[in-house]
Amino acid sequence: MNTKPTNHADIEGLVEDASLQFFNTFGVEARAKYLIQITEIEEFRQAVEFARDNFLECLVIGEGSNLLFVHDYPGLVIVMKLQGIAREGSLLRVAAGENWHQLVEWTLSHGLYGLENLALIPGTVGAAPIQNIGAYGCEVERFVERVIVYDTQIAKEVTFNHDDCDFSYRDSVFKRAPRGRYVILEVELRLNSEEQLLLDYEPLKAVVSKLDRVTARDVFDAVCRIRRKKLPDPKLFGNAGSFFKNPIVSAQKLEALKAQGFDVPSYATDDAELFKLPAAWLLEAAGWKGRVRGQAAVHESHALVLINLGKASGEDVLLLAQEMSNSVLQRFGIALQPEVQII
Ligand code: EPU
Repeated sequence: MNTKPTNHADIEGLVEDASLQFFNTFGVEARAKYLIQITEIEEFRQAVEFARDNFLECLVIGEGSNLLFVHDYPGLVIVMKLQGIAREGSLLRVAAGENWHQLVEWTLSHGLYGLENLALIPGTVGAAPIQNIGAYGCEVERFVERVIVYDTQIAKEVTFNHDDCDFSYRDSVFKRAPRGRYVILEVELRLNSEEQLLLDYEPLKAVVSKLDRVTARDVFDAVCRIRRKKLPDPKLFGNAGSFFKNPIVSAQKLEALKAQGFDVPSYATDDAELFKLPAAWLLEAAGWKGRVRGQAAVHESHALVLINLGKASGEDVLLLAQEMSNSVLQRFGIALQPEVQII
């Protein structure tokens, strides 16, 4: 057995003092003490060993599409690029580093359905269960059968069945655990072999209702069109999609807002006493749409999306976000929670 602690020079591909600018879709500059890109499970094991031997914290990222760096990272950033899709009937085992949108396309061209509403969501497959990605009336948990993770606390691979993941709106056991505890290696998805369309979401229904017969491919195309129209392309303006979660409030709070004259839209939840409100509406009503603060700004066609105009730092974006949430708290008495992970 090799008992010698792993040293910097022993690890192929390890970069010291690495820029993170191209590893986050906000495109903000921050530095990692070490960074490594992983394409093989063995490289991952070595990287974890290196971090342990050198008392470094690890941060595992996919495409960096749901995080904001506000400091340099003093540990090891592991960029998860494990690839591979294995199919057994309607069950797919997908490696964590696969691109989410490419997987959605792959499923449709292989006669597997269900993911079409989740087209064009940025990021990797491994990131999808962490915040239970969702859009246009569908959340990924509907299809997640198992998640295979590396538990850094016990240094072992562990399988989580669907119920162990404890999914809820933009949340899961993986997001609630201390950062770095679970590293997702593979996700098992059970898809539909027949089309079963989800058309409850109004803007989507409105687009496809013009067609005679609606297919999963039509839904995919419509979702892509709606997203391209509303959400900025990170290649043009750095962003991470919705910055805040949509707040969930009591029926009493909703009544109080209406009584104050705020005509806020609301969506029912599984709990008859709780309603989800669009954070974008609250922010727009508070005057934030299109507002600029130096190099950080609020997107002009969606008040929930913060953008980097080119040279924003993570701090610039965070300060703007704080100003926005303070104003919503003052005006509506609602505390917005970030959806993006702040690191
Ligand atoms: N609205 C405004 N002003 C705006 C934009 C929207 O008032 O500038 C209002 C409208 O009333 C609209 C409502 O907000 O009907 C909801 O807007 P939208 O349909 O764009 O959805 P959202 O609630 O803002 C959520 C997800 C998105 C997802 C869309 C579509 C969250 C935090 N965000 O946004 O997810 O794509 O629904 O399903 O749940 C993401 O998580 O990064 C993300 C983009």
